[in-house]
Amino acid sequence: MRTEAPVAVKLSDYTPYPFEVEQVDLRFDLDPEDTRVRADLKIRRTGDKSAALELDGEALELKSIAIDGTALDKGAYEVTESGLTIASVPDEFTLTTDVKIAPASNTALSGLYMSGGRFCSQCESVGFRRITYYPDRPDVMSSFKVRMTADKETCPVLLSNGTPGESGDAGDGRHFAVWDDPHKKPSYLFALCAGDYDIYRDQFTTMSGKVIDLAIHVDKGDAERAAWAMDSLKRSMKWDEETYGREYDLGVFNIVAVRDFNFGAMENKGLNIFNSAYVLADEASATDADFEAIESIVAHEYFHNWTGNRITCRDWFQLCLKEGLTVFRDQNFSADMRSRPVQRIKDVIRLRARQFAEDAGPLAHSVRPDTYGAIDNLYTATVYEKGAEIIGMLRRMIGEETYRKGMDLYFERHDGQAVTIEDFYACFEKVSGQDFTQFRRWYAQAGTPEVTVEENWKADSNEIEITLRQKTPATPGQPVKQPVPIPLNMALLDEEGNLAEWMTVLEDEEVTLTFDLPDGTERPLVSVNRDFTAPVRLARSLSREDRLQLVRLETDPFNQWDGVQTLAKEEILALAEGSQAEPDADLVDAIATAIEGALGDPAYAALLTRLPDVGEMFLERQPADPVALNKARKKLQKAVAGKLEDLIISVLGQPSPQPFDPGAEQAGTRALRTAFITLLAGSGREDADTHLLKLYEAAPNMTEKLAALRGLAGLEGEARDKALADFEEAWKTNPLVMDKWFSVQAVTADAETVAKLAAHKDFDLRNPNRVRSVVAVFAMQNLSAFHAPDGSGYKVVEEIVRKADKANPSLGARLLTAFEQWRVLEPQARSEAEACLRRLQGSDLSKNSADIVARALG
Ligand code: ARG
Ligand code: ZN
Repeated sequence: MRTEAPVAVKLSDYTPYPFEVEQVDLRFDLDPEDTRVRADLKIRRTGDKSAALELDGEALELKSIAIDGTALDKGAYEVTESGLTIASVPDEFTLTTDVKIAPASNTALSGLYMSGGRFCSQCESVGFRRITYYPDRPDVMSSFKVRMTADKETCPVLLSNGTPGESGDAGDGRHFAVWDDPHKKPSYLFALCAGDYDIYRDQFTTMSGKVIDLAIHVDKGDAERAAWAMDSLKRSMKWDEETYGREYDLGVFNIVAVRDFNFGAMENKGLNIFNSAYVLADEASATDADFEAIESIVAHEYFHNWTGNRITCRDWFQLCLKEGLTVFRDQNFSADMRSRPVQRIKDVIRLRARQFAEDAGPLAHSVRPDTYGAIDNLYTATVYEKGAEIIGMLRRMIGEETYRKGMDLYFERHDGQAVTIEDFYACFEKVSGQDFTQFRRWYAQAGTPEVTVEENWKADSNEIEITLRQKTPATPGQPVKQPVPIPLNMALLDEEGNLAEWMTVLEDEEVTLTFDLPDGTERPLVSVNRDFTAPVRLARSLSREDRLQLVRLETDPFNQWDGVQTLAKEEILALAEGSQAEPDADLVDAIATAIEGALGDPAYAALLTRLPDVGEMFLERQPADPVALNKARKKLQKAVAGKLEDLIISVLGQPSPQPFDPGAEQAGTRALRTAFITLLAGSGREDADTHLLKLYEAAPNMTEKLAALRGLAGLEGEARDKALADFEEAWKTNPLVMDKWFSVQAVTADAETVAKLAAHKDFDLRNPNRVRSVVAVFAMQNLSAFHAPDGSGYKVVEEIVRKADKANPSLGARLLTAFEQWRVLEPQARSEAEACLRRLQGSDLSKNSADIVARALG
């Protein structure tokens, strides 16, 4: 059987819902196999007199239906696979439905499902329709009241949105609880959790003096591991007050951690639900990267309370309105908690790895698309990360103060509403007096703009001319692009530092800037897109000497780091293409010197040791040969490791900081240590494996233990086997840590090893974290093996994804995006990838996956 890709939904088809839902009363009678949901919807007609009442509903068994207490005749309504229609309804009425759902058999993890024997929900985007019949669209906002009953013993804790009300005994070993949410909300923000948890509690006093009860619900025995998440939550609450003047608006704030979750976390009003990977952490079991991710995701979901919940999206095309803005907010929070330049570099690494790749392939779409097939597939790096970059450009162009005024106006004008990108920009037009019509092209045009920089130094007149040109490549469905305003921070550099510093907004296709410099000035170097002010690719034909010089003179930390990246990219390409046999000594020196010069800021120094990933190189030259690129990258890494050998051995000979603290300072020290562990692993030293094994055994924290294990995993031999066996034995009962055990192997595995990992007794197709720890890691971070020219990587992934997709379409589709780069590959891998996609297209896939495959094949 073959699944057709879903029919496209179009932004231009938007029409308001013709009814208002004034009040929603939900009654849940919770049972794993037979949960009953009764919904009383108080509805009032607001549109067309003749409009039928159309409600969404999926995988529901309708038990009864009544209007104002009178059961409807069979002929009065129609039930389909996707909903329920009542042709004729009064102007004001209460609709009562009773449905049966089976949370225990819900493997899609959308709607109400079970994880670890507890009930939980995920409604964004369209999960609520799997709970009850409802207009499941974000522009229908209503007041929700929930009453649930459940078994007392297995479900002592009963949670939903808002504030807790009455609770008590319900007879028959059951009990009940009522939750009331005073804030109107769309259905995608509904949440319900019931089960037995350990609870980590704290309080937060808001700026107006209200005391909020905070609680994080976790698996039994895990409470202490929620301490960092709680600390992050309190800092987020404070930051949003100080930075945006936003106060929390309910008396309680609950977080529930669940092991089976399709994404990172979800911002349900007053009841955030998290993938447990982004809640639980301690020194022994979590890396600094985990601590950092927890901090930023806790912040992200908390910040949604204002940017997403109080003001939500009119329709799903506007997803970036809440996601881009909220990512921008969480990135700035992290920058304030840690180091701003380091944060910026990490954000750009992520943007380039995921968003630039997406923008350059068949899945490219605009930040606000005007059509989509499957809504779940819209939760992309483009919507999130590029969406955040656009807000960053907006802020740079109008300045921090005006930006804040615009945000204040946005909150004031639109609180309680479901709005659009246009509504958002109207606020900034008002406070700045500027017109953002052209700027909004950033939302409409897919593709990463390329900016070409040309310099012309006139020595006799001490003049420098800088010509900037922009061009956005064609993307699927968008052959012709218009220029977008590109804010570029720039500087002229000489031996003394900055000769000049300014921002140019490149509005048109081309602009030439001319600078008259004082007599006797040497040719200055031009620093472009400092701090990565714009999400563009730069094209400059500079000599290696000029590039080396730029790295040496650069005063902007981002650009210094990026200068090293560019040099490394060119070197890897030269080595991969065979135009050079060995790494250039001057270049290796320059990298080593930059690292040595940065040792005072170890987090930054660690980033300087990073070489561009194979996937990033795909954007540089095509067709791309991942196997050759991987070899070339390793060669360069080995040369850098050799150059820094003494430093590496001496740094790793020092003890790790004690006692452990997850904060930025110690994390920076550990980042450098792990960077050096990685270099040691790639050094080719004969004793590398025994040295790594010692480091593995002695490591007092997971950050360094895992770095040593990762290093070992890439080396054949006894030390590797010993460490992997030891790690498995030590952590076999901790699933989050076992995910790491699977990942360190997948990241260096060949197809055969992946098949073995997938056959391991702890590999669980139903658990997204576990599946991702093998399949996503292999397909997205181990590109030379995934894109193996014999097609073995594709075949092993195909087989697992087919199974995963059956149970969980959202997971299946996400994994399949790994194929997005197939067209740029060398001919052998390319034809194997295409054959695999064709096989998938001809088979029975979920709608989500069919959408990805159809677009990938384009
Ligand atoms: N809103 C959630 C967040 O920002 C993510 C929800 C993902 N939902 C989905 N259908 N992909 O963190
Ligand atoms: Zn979000």
